[in-house]
Amino acid sequence: MVCLTAYSKPIAKILDNYCDIVLVGDSVATAMYGMKNTHNINIDTMIRHGISVKSNLKKAICVIDMPIKTYQNTKQAQKNANLIFKKTKCDAVKIESNGKNFDIIKSIVDTGIPVMGHIGFTPQYYTKFKIQGILEKDRIRLIKEAMQIETAGAFSIVLECIKPSLAKEITKKIKIPTIGIGASNYCDGQILVTDDMLGISGFYPRFVKKFVKLDNIIEKGIQEYRKAVLNNNFPSNKNIF
Ligand code: KIV
Repeated sequence: MVCLTAYSKPIAKILDNYCDIVLVGDSVATAMYGMKNTHNINIDTMIRHGISVKSNLKKAICVIDMPIKTYQNTKQAQKNANLIFKKTKCDAVKIESNGKNFDIIKSIVDTGIPVMGHIGFTPQYYTKFKIQGILEKDRIRLIKEAMQIETAGAFSIVLECIKPSLAKEITKKIKIPTIGIGASNYCDGQILVTDDMLGISGFYPRFVKKFVKLDNIIEKGIQEYRKAVLNNNFPSNKNIF
């Protein structure tokens, strides 16, 4: 499965032709709003970006991240998942696992809203980056967590920054598809933050490959615009009425 993030209409329109899943990630906080982490993005912002993305997808599945503190108990989780689902018309929501919120996933699935799970380095619950699943006790914990998320009814699960051999083991153990980010090509699919892989985010950890250096392309365009304006070559006759 080919998956990427989108926060806006133009990107959603392009991704729709190439992605199975488009995620409106809470990474919008860092990628677009310059926040230092994803902890302060609110549900209204996610809904606004969700509407923009979903209304420009025809084929791809649209998944929207539930922000931290919007699913602290089953009642609140159902209410907020329903709000996101109804307002954006998305296909599913994603919930980061804190190792305990399996009943939350089940309660949302029970209302008919599909849920994507997310384990490993879950940015809502970790601040310091660490590759996950190195110690034997963590290996056992993560396998159990993936199985519990599957049992809770999730339709797929993101594995973030998990040791390759463990990503392989989890992918073999569960029936729902695994989607890796920094978790090797043993996963059933891959996801990246689009701004990272296009080279415009300025955030390039080892698991990110810059498939294009869009920052250089944008800079070149801006330089040419500046030159044209300063030399009075823009607008030309072609650009005026
Ligand atoms: O918020 C996000 O973009 C994500 C992906 C990196 C999986 O959760």
